[in-house]
Amino acid sequence: MTRTLASDDSGLAAAAGLLLDGQLVAFPTETVYGLGGDARSDRAVAAIFDAKGRPSFNPLIVHLPDMAAVERIAHAGPNARALAQAFWPGPLTLVLPLREGAGISPLVTAGLPTVAVRVPAHPVAQRLLQRFSGPIAAPSANPSGRVSPTRAAHVLQGLAGRIAAVVDGGPCAVGLESTIVLPDPDPRLLRPGGVPVEALEAVLGRPVSIGQDPATPNAPGQLASHYAPEATIRLLATAAEPGEVLVGFGVVPGVLTLSAAGDLVEAAANLFHILREADRLAGPRGRIAFAPIPEVGLGRAINDRLRRAAAPRL
Ligand code: TXA
Ligand code: MG
Repeated sequence: MTRTLASDDSGLAAAAGLLLDGQLVAFPTETVYGLGGDARSDRAVAAIFDAKGRPSFNPLIVHLPDMAAVERIAHAGPNARALAQAFWPGPLTLVLPLREGAGISPLVTAGLPTVAVRVPAHPVAQRLLQRFSGPIAAPSANPSGRVSPTRAAHVLQGLAGRIAAVVDGGPCAVGLESTIVLPDPDPRLLRPGGVPVEALEAVLGRPVSIGQDPATPNAPGQLASHYAPEATIRLLATAAEPGEVLVGFGVVPGVLTLSAAGDLVEAAANLFHILREADRLAGPRGRIAFAPIPEVGLGRAINDRLRRAAAPRL
């Protein structure tokens, strides 16, 4: 049985108690719902991988309440500090050298010498971190390879019976996972997300290179097929072909639309919910078509997720 907890004091006290007991609790962040466990506990972290059916080589993000807590477990260089100052709390994850004796389970980092850290802005996530007063490891709260959850109901659709509880904090405002950056010495984007790369470059005053450093092991487990709905997906559609569910954007109207106004922020917030809706409308072996999304700002992260959703299944 998975309990649904309210995001009030008693719900958060119960959630923190479950986490202290080594159990798993999904909670809202401004990006997507996270599947939280005590990042210091091997048992809790192993349970996260098990609940998601996630390959254990794919490391997890550690959520912390503030920069002081981050610096207790990781070393922050100059670019990391500048980005933290500008974007935390918020939808940015930094990959930093792990501090010796940080007490983080090696399962969290999959044995890497670095740790991915994030200070979330969502008030419910912040209050949970304060109450728990420890590091919370949390991947997105969906079965591995499936669409990320932006509502408590989505979490239950994928993980009911596999986790102790979900804290219901309503829909997520950003709707896309955090941007992941390896900040120092030379900034590198590992995953586009809620903070556009243009905004990172504006703060750093230099270009951010894109993609994996060949020297780092398979960083953000960016398997080509990810965010997969049941239906097959066609991109860059300007009209529906027979039998397709068209998802519109801007001037392309659809049965559903990411944003009729062509607003990328609205489209990001709607993306994962609409992907689920379209999947439901399309039915078994259905087909979904997506209107083109401009490759700027949050559009880059939206297109990244759509390309993965459209990729041939593994
Ligand atoms: O918005 C988000 O980031 C959400 C919320 C819950 O915070 N979390 C999330 O986690 O999207 P997840 O596990 O779905 O994605 C985390 C990504 C993975 O692709 C993983 O490979 C990468 O972060 N990652 C974690 N630790 C890393 C490290 N040390 N080096 C490089 N990449 C790392
Ligand atoms: Mg995920």
